[in-house]
Amino acid sequence: MFGLFAVTAMLVCYALEARSHLFVLAFAISCALGSVYGFLQGAWPFGGVEAIWAMVALRRWNLRYSAVKSGSHSRSSLAISNKFLDPAGPELNAVFLLGTLKTRKKGDFSHTETLCELVREDFRPYNVKSEIVRLVDYDIKPGVESDMGPGDEWPGILKKLIAADIIVFATPIWWGIQSSLIQRVIERMDALNDELLETGKSELANKVGGMVITGAEDGAEHIIGNVANFLIWNGMTLPPACSISFLGDYTGATKESLLEKFRSQKATASMSRTMTRNLVFFARLLRENNIPQDTEGISQNVAPGAVGMRGDRA
Ligand SMILES: Cc1cc2nc3c(=O)[nH]c(=O)nc-3n(C[C@H](O)[C@H](O)[C@H](O)COP(=O)(O)O)c2cc1C
Repeated sequence: MFGLFAVTAMLVCYALEARSHLFVLAFAISCALGSVYGFLQGAWPFGGVEAIWAMVALRRWNLRYSAVKSGSHSRSSLAISNKFLDPAGPELNAVFLLGTLKTRKKGDFSHTETLCELVREDFRPYNVKSEIVRLVDYDIKPGVESDMGPGDEWPGILKKLIAADIIVFATPIWWGIQSSLIQRVIERMDALNDELLETGKSELANKVGGMVITGAEDGAEHIIGNVANFLIWNGMTLPPACSISFLGDYTGATKESLLEKFRSQKATASMSRTMTRNLVFFARLLRENNIPQDTEGISQNVAPGAVGMRGDRA
């Protein structure tokens, strides 16, 4: 009877896991009961496996519970009920390419970095590990190759991008366009585009892209268009609402007060939650369902600008 109860409880709780983190906890407890039953019966391999299951389930419950407690997910039932949004899902890796011109050495605080911090906060409960690469602190040589020789620090950054599931381009608006550092990254990533043109395959395939933009008054949508154009041509996937922008007044702000302002402003906080949820959803979806890169490849086998305008070359 005891064994039957434990196994039935396991099945029922497992089936109901999506409804509440409490079912994950109940599943862990029933696995532990199953383990006790196994050992009592002398079936120690069964008992051992059940004990491991109990520990794994307990960890999953802990992650789910922390997510609910942190608040950012209790507002969204989808976050709990969809397997790609499960806080206990596989860990994802996000890299922010920060294009501020303010160096860390000078101690200037960057508005764009601060907005990235808000997005990172919303990533955490989904089990996303993230890193901000402050481009201005690196020596990124001009050019269109992956390695431009001695002193070039781009190869190290490129390695991080290739290992990432999510790549976020974060930029201030400079006279209506993205910063020169973001433009340099686009030029350096061109080497990946050459590879794509030759092979039809992209190292950026199955990665998702996002954007973080700050400015004073205008230009964000223009930048979203520029960056999106580059990313989709290079085989990346852009989920719906994958960008966040804040345009406004920063007078007298400190990093802490600005972050607090971002957290408390309804529109900004909501943009960040939607963006992170969609990025996580598509990153896990693509991890489990890679885009086929056979025959025709991941992207058009023509350079940007060749379509239509240069049809005479075909
Ligand atoms: C030279 C200069 C040009 C700027 N151009 C624009 C602009 O075209 N549109 C806009 O909304 N903000 C513009 N800004 C404001 C910056 O984009 C804004 O302060 C941004 O948040 C700075 O980000 P950071 O602190 O991360 O570098 C400009 C600022 C400077 C100093």
